[in-house]
Amino acid sequence: MTRRIDIVEVGPRDGLQNDPANLSVAQKLEFIARLEAAGVRRMESGSFVSPKAVPKMADSPAVFAGVDRTRPTRHIALALNETGMRRAIEAKADEINFVLVASEAFGRRNQGMSPQESADMLAKCAPLAHEAGIPLTATISVAFGDPYTGDVDIAVVGSLAAQAQRAGVAELALGDTIGAATPWDVRRAIDRVRIEAPDVFLRMHFHDTRGAGLANVFAAVEAGIDVIDASCGGIGGCPFAPAATGNVATEDVVWMLERAGFETGLDLARLIETAKWLETVLGHPVASALSRAGVFPA
Ligand code: COA
Ligand code: ZN
Repeated sequence: MTRRIDIVEVGPRDGLQNDPANLSVAQKLEFIARLEAAGVRRMESGSFVSPKAVPKMADSPAVFAGVDRTRPTRHIALALNETGMRRAIEAKADEINFVLVASEAFGRRNQGMSPQESADMLAKCAPLAHEAGIPLTATISVAFGDPYTGDVDIAVVGSLAAQAQRAGVAELALGDTIGAATPWDVRRAIDRVRIEAPDVFLRMHFHDTRGAGLANVFAAVEAGIDVIDASCGGIGGCPFAPAATGNVATEDVVWMLERAGFETGLDLARLIETAKWLETVLGHPVASALSRAGVFPA
């Protein structure tokens, strides 16, 4: 039987939050519709954070109000605090992804929280999502390295995972926010989190900042992970992580996996077309390899 790997498309959130271009709500909705036409069924469509902290996501309520709800897509909202959680519920998010942080320095700058404070915030906010009947997931950001202080203690990652499980998080992503992980780090972190949070479904979130993105996807799939975050075109970065570049590109991940016999349910030609369309609206080239080289075999 063909093994299925599900891609969570994060371009409309992680991708656009740091791009120099300012897309209109209509352009964001067109991006989302194009991704849906390419088969995307789960995507981070916006983020309910402070508009002062991340101005590019200030229009997320309008984006959520504008998405076509007759389609089967699950629109995921990012939240980092109670206000964000309430706003995401109000916007009728299909899922809420909460952000935990594995290191102090990045946590202070990104969300004004220490790792433990982010876990306490999750514990406080989780009941709101549960009461609203909205599936709750979480991402541990900078799980493989902090842009300011370097290596991250894997014990902290394990402790956050255990606390996420206790808060009733159904799925947890390990986030390599700054592209610091190697495939061997990926294996080690997955093994550790499986011990500390055995009931939580694991997802992986990689940035390709140092060229190890696809190798890390390979390591995750080999370790039995079935859900991978990726952004069309490989766009993105984090406003609070200097030099962080985009996520692994959806079309590159899809090509690699489908070439190897996995099933993703995504239409590679349409993804490439969307990446090329993105270049026209962003006004700059995107990073994905497939949008330059094309599919092999053609
Ligand atoms: N949505 C909108 N506004 C929010 C908000 C939210 N979720 N949370 C707080 N605010 C507003 C408050 O109302 C307050 O506004 P005011 O200055 O007009 O009174 C202001 O933001 C500060 O609120 P406070 O609770 O003191 O938050 P903070 O200054 O400690 O910042 C965060 C905490 C989480 C709101 C902020 O750091 C943030 O939004 N970070 C986002 C980081 C991010 O998205 N990174 C990329 C993805 S991981
Ligand atoms: Zn990211």
